[in-house]
Amino acid sequence: MLSRASGRCLLHQGRRYVYAASLSTQTGQKVITLDNMNPQVKKMEYAVRGPLVIRATAIEKELEAGIEKPFKTVTKANIGDAHAMGQKPITFLRQVLSLCSMPSLLEDSSFPEDAKERARGVLAGCKGTSLGSYSDSPGIEIIRRHVADYIQQRDGQPSSWEDIILCAGASEGIRSIMKLMVQHENGIRPGVMIPIPQYPLYSASIDEYDLHQIGYYLEESTNWGLDMAELERAYTEAKKVCHPKALVVINPGNPTGNVLPRENIEAVIKFAHERKLFLFADEVYQDNIYADGCVFHSFKKVMKELGEPYCHMEMASFMSCSKGYMGECGLRGGYAEVINLDPDVKAMYLKSISAKLCPTTLGQAAMECVVNPPRKGDPSYDQFISEKSAVLSSLAQRAKMVVETFNSVPGMSCNTVQGAMYAFPQIHLPPKAIEAAKAAGQLPDVFYAFQLLENTGICIVPGSGFGQRPGTYHFRTTILPQPEMLSTMLEKFREFHTSFVKRYQ
Ligand SMILES: Cc1ncc(COP(=O)(O)O)c(C=O)c1O
Repeated sequence: MLSRASGRCLLHQGRRYVYAASLSTQTGQKVITLDNMNPQVKKMEYAVRGPLVIRATAIEKELEAGIEKPFKTVTKANIGDAHAMGQKPITFLRQVLSLCSMPSLLEDSSFPEDAKERARGVLAGCKGTSLGSYSDSPGIEIIRRHVADYIQQRDGQPSSWEDIILCAGASEGIRSIMKLMVQHENGIRPGVMIPIPQYPLYSASIDEYDLHQIGYYLEESTNWGLDMAELERAYTEAKKVCHPKALVVINPGNPTGNVLPRENIEAVIKFAHERKLFLFADEVYQDNIYADGCVFHSFKKVMKELGEPYCHMEMASFMSCSKGYMGECGLRGGYAEVINLDPDVKAMYLKSISAKLCPTTLGQAAMECVVNPPRKGDPSYDQFISEKSAVLSSLAQRAKMVVETFNSVPGMSCNTVQGAMYAFPQIHLPPKAIEAAKAAGQLPDVFYAFQLLENTGICIVPGSGFGQRPGTYHFRTTILPQPEMLSTMLEKFREFHTSFVKRYQ
């Protein structure tokens, strides 16, 4: 977002925004103005909820008001929000939450005993045995202990509950750790290495905290592989202008849907160790693995298995109840496992999160269910496993369907969605479409996405919101619409792309 030197008009990718239009008559009376407000907040962008989504919401209102369009509904394939796209909640998780919120239901014989046992455990860990009380800032101790048990079981490596920090979604955990890096040295900013394309929480937070973004490109020709030579190039170039301090890896990848092989993870850990980089392992999609031969390896496990000297590296890894088979985005539950921090820094970190009091206790209770699900023999086990597998196998099918369709459309190419919840296809735009975009004051992929939205009601996010190699154009779509809706969406997509290309041939 740019503020024009002359006035109060905000521009974003060539589009003018209404919310800025009338400020010029008022700014003299306001304490906070566009000219004096925090410039870092003005700079940050978050494409997943950007101008296309604002327009999509406006179109929904227009449809409600009876305005004729070439479509009847808007399909929001822009955001990884499974429940918004029709996914049903996991029964066990909601039973535990219901019991925690309304303890009188503990007397109700229609709730299974294992859900009651979990709820009693959570409530016993709450002050005053109520979910309505503040918890400790890093979260309810019994849930932190269960998270550590889960990690230990997953990785076969020890995990300490005191390293577990529950947070209001992984986003909050990521931002609270990133904040620790903010310290200019002799006027030089710290740098954070992030993949390109990336999940825009990272670029937005880097801007907000006035850090330097070091982008390393993922390699599209190897299914969005993480190439060590590219990591080295990005680091070496960035070192001339910033102090590289951290390296972010998103595995499985958003928006790229790639899953890192173990050798790659080992190489990244060694790279980070050699250059003294703090590692952010964003592993919120650890349950979303679809492609044959792909396995999730946590960075923590690989780092511990590599042994000396790597096992002492500072690292934070993140998990969430928003993704996986749960899709409970609105509950805002997540955790960070933060290891090998300097004890004095850890004390400061704990102090800093204490100013936020605590993450939502409902989100914490949701995380309890994620890390401590029904076990074999428990009354809820069969239903839990059947619901979990149904969601994951349907997602795997939808991942395939999306890729096959896009690859069958001339002028589009799409890598295998190995994991996560997104496809990031490349679109080959004719030169005349690029000229038309320029004339409209938009980037070509933004122009394409707006045309798609206005003509079909499909809302996707242009590749420029995530970063892409110059001269290439992409978009991100989720694989989350339910199968029937997805199939309709993909057919409409095919028709649109074909006629778009024809129009600008
Ligand atoms: C890679 C990645 N990390 C973190 C998050 C944030 O998730 P949460 O809802 O837990 O804040 C997302 C959400 O889409 C994501 O894709």
